[in-house]
Amino acid sequence: MPECRLRINRYDPAADGELTWGRRTDRWDEFTVPYEGTMTLLEALFYVQEHLDGSLAFRYCCRASICGSCAVYIDGRYRLACQTNVTRFEGKTISVAPMPHLPLVKDLVCDMTSFFAKYEYIKPWLIRESGDPEKEIPQSPEERKKLDMPIDCILCGACYSSCPSVWYQDDYLGPAALLKAYRFEVDSRDEARKERLPRFDNERGVYRCHTIANCSEACPKELNPTEGIQWLKRATVRRRIFGRWK
Ligand code: SF4
Ligand code: FES
Repeated sequence: MPECRLRINRYDPAADGELTWGRRTDRWDEFTVPYEGTMTLLEALFYVQEHLDGSLAFRYCCRASICGSCAVYIDGRYRLACQTNVTRFEGKTISVAPMPHLPLVKDLVCDMTSFFAKYEYIKPWLIRESGDPEKEIPQSPEERKKLDMPIDCILCGACYSSCPSVWYQDDYLGPAALLKAYRFEVDSRDEARKERLPRFDNERGVYRCHTIANCSEACPKELNPTEGIQWLKRATVRRRIFGRWK
């Protein structure tokens, strides 16, 4: 039966003490996992937890690349563990670490509290003041097409973890929250205007993005948060110069 070798970065707050923000231990444990046919990295982590080391902590939910919970740093790249097949690393030891530059809870589990607080701050829902809420609001195919890219975000946090502006400015909203703001700003049904735009038209928001584009490179869903943020920058300029909210 073929086997894969995993090298996993470990952190146990009880044994290792508190780590300063974004730091990692230099403790790596190695495991050999047998598999038949194909096996995702998430399944390999389950094997380790069930048969080799029950203390291994990792996060998952859907196992289908939809929930974003299982994002980790595999062989120096952001990937979803449930979307990554171990056979692609044949003959190599696969290094698995938590996403860098985020506070750690245990092993591969990052603390996503500030990520989701910033996401909520941006008001990530459709806001509409006019019309009958009981009636559907039609969109043309062209209007719907504008949502194709941002609507696929699964909130895995890879872009947020990869962004140097987030590392150095902890109140910066970050690429995922701003991509979500973009998703609603380009939605023809949304009427938030004065409610949402001032939340990203400042130093916490779009002006902190220096177009490094690490976020677009990191995204395991191949989305382009940088493009969304540039669109938002233009929207803020239009508001400041012409007083237009959309
Ligand atoms: Fe994850 Fe991509 Fe969404 Fe960022 S934009 S949270 S990397 S899916
Ligand atoms: Fe949901 Fe991997 S477990 S994206």
